[in-house]
Amino acid sequence: MCPDHFSPQKQSSESQESGAQFLADQVARRKNFAIISHPDAGKTTLTEKLLLYGGAIQQAGAVKARGEQRKVTSDWMELEKQRGISITSTVLQFDYRDRTVNLLDTPGHQDFSEDTYRTLAAADNAVMLEDAAKGLEPQTRKLFEVCRLRKIPIFTFINKMDRPGQPPLSLLDEIEAELDLAVWAVNWPIGSGEQFRGVIDRQSKEVVLFGRAERGRQSTERHLRLDDPELKSLVESELLEQALEEIELLDIAGSEMNLELLHAGELTPVFFGSAMTNFGVRPFLDAFLQMAQGPIARGSSDGLVDPLRPDFSGFVFKLQANMDPRHRDRVAFVRVCSGRFEKDMSVCHARTGKTIRLSRPQKIFGQDRAVVDDAYPGDVIGLNNPGMFSIGDTLYKGKKVEYEGIPCFSPEIFSWLRNPNPSAFKNFRKGVNELREEGAVQILYDTDQSKRDPILAAVGQLQLEVVQHRLENEYGVATRLEPMTFQVARWVSGGWNALEKVGRIFNCKTVQDAWHRPVLLFKNDWNLNQLKEDHPDLDLCAVAPVVSGVDPIEL
Ligand code: G4P
Repeated sequence: MCPDHFSPQKQSSESQESGAQFLADQVARRKNFAIISHPDAGKTTLTEKLLLYGGAIQQAGAVKARGEQRKVTSDWMELEKQRGISITSTVLQFDYRDRTVNLLDTPGHQDFSEDTYRTLAAADNAVMLEDAAKGLEPQTRKLFEVCRLRKIPIFTFINKMDRPGQPPLSLLDEIEAELDLAVWAVNWPIGSGEQFRGVIDRQSKEVVLFGRAERGRQSTERHLRLDDPELKSLVESELLEQALEEIELLDIAGSEMNLELLHAGELTPVFFGSAMTNFGVRPFLDAFLQMAQGPIARGSSDGLVDPLRPDFSGFVFKLQANMDPRHRDRVAFVRVCSGRFEKDMSVCHARTGKTIRLSRPQKIFGQDRAVVDDAYPGDVIGLNNPGMFSIGDTLYKGKKVEYEGIPCFSPEIFSWLRNPNPSAFKNFRKGVNELREEGAVQILYDTDQSKRDPILAAVGQLQLEVVQHRLENEYGVATRLEPMTFQVARWVSGGWNALEKVGRIFNCKTVQDAWHRPVLLFKNDWNLNQLKEDHPDLDLCAVAPVVSGVDPIEL
């Protein structure tokens, strides 16, 4: 069992005080965020520009190259490459001005999966990136819903302003109406597409003019006061007038900027810019760092845990196997929530009560890994994981804390997993149980005991391919997937009793999750809505809370 305190070296009150001040300084300088967007909105491009400001990459194109490869898909070789790529950029840390910024990568494209959702559990802020021509897109909406669950502050960057887009007022209306978020435009565009001339900063009344550059090149920026007489000769008067009229409209009828509402996830500041031409990116980064919330206190079994709690604590939000194909290693990503993390520290593993020495913690940047000497709340560290960590596990020093864990998100793809070779059953069972524990996929079971094969339930198709591939390569079992026609899953909040009370239900299949809870599978939303209409008292939820103290069903 874990002792309550490790290495009880007596610190003098003076050194404790300076340690507390040091921790407070480190926490104050940190900001952490994830970018949520639909493929092609420009996340890779924006990430690269942000990193350039932090001096984290020397060469434009370094991130882009990975973005390109990520789009490649077909056979496993590509898949492996693809996974390596999206995973090695799991967290990017850079210093900018007097801040340390942690950018948590949320893979888009084909590898969109539960990992993406879980990464958001480790983020304190999110940047919602929209393509000005497309507005809100499906993946952005899904990711936004996950942010909403945790009330994460959202910053909106409307990208590709150098190209024809939707009217800016419609883009704001869409966010307001569809996401139920108040919006506050930080800057306002003058013209769009071919006629995009720049933006007006609403607070400083400064105009930033956009100088078009050749494709892919850095644009030029010129800063002028709104009342500068020269402006008239630089911008067509009708474009300027229209922008000013719209700003007036926003001043009268729009929301006001309110930091409290932003931090409660109820208001989003909106920025217009163009990542590719690097227009509006630096002002965005500056404003973001000013307004974003720092490492927040997190809910635990013991109430909220302050990041300034002197003892280290953190939780595992992502596990990744085979990050380095040459070593077949496994890495657990831990979000530091409180105190100072130090290399070689012995910590307690809350779920098992075991003491673990963390001897080779890593910071992972692109293809490179560096051993971390220390880390602070808001940071992410990678730990070698020889199978002892599960998603949601808490590591701590000092008094026991256990973080709330990460809920199960509603899967959208379902498939029977068949093992055609009975003599391989032992390995099949081991693989399925371990991959479930690792969070690679959710496992559901038929309520009919005679149907013993597990049902794989995933958010992204790639998750299923990865599971199948790993079963074959790591456990030596060739399996067969038999797709099911369901697309929607809902947990029954009241459990089996609530389900029994409503009696027979139609057009859905009842299964159970690994925690013995009833889950209903529907072919489409229409069937789900029909059930809701027929049984308004049946409470269904799309996200299942974390379970503790119950042994999971093992195959
Ligand atoms: P993603 O990671 O969100 O999927 O998007 P990514 O950055 O890869 O960008 C998708 C495409 O959009 C890229 O074009 C990129 O150059 C372009 N893009 C990003 N930001 C802007 C912008 O501000 N303005 C314009 N006009 N385009 C932008 P591509 O043709 O797929 O690649 P490439 O040939 O430009 O490298």
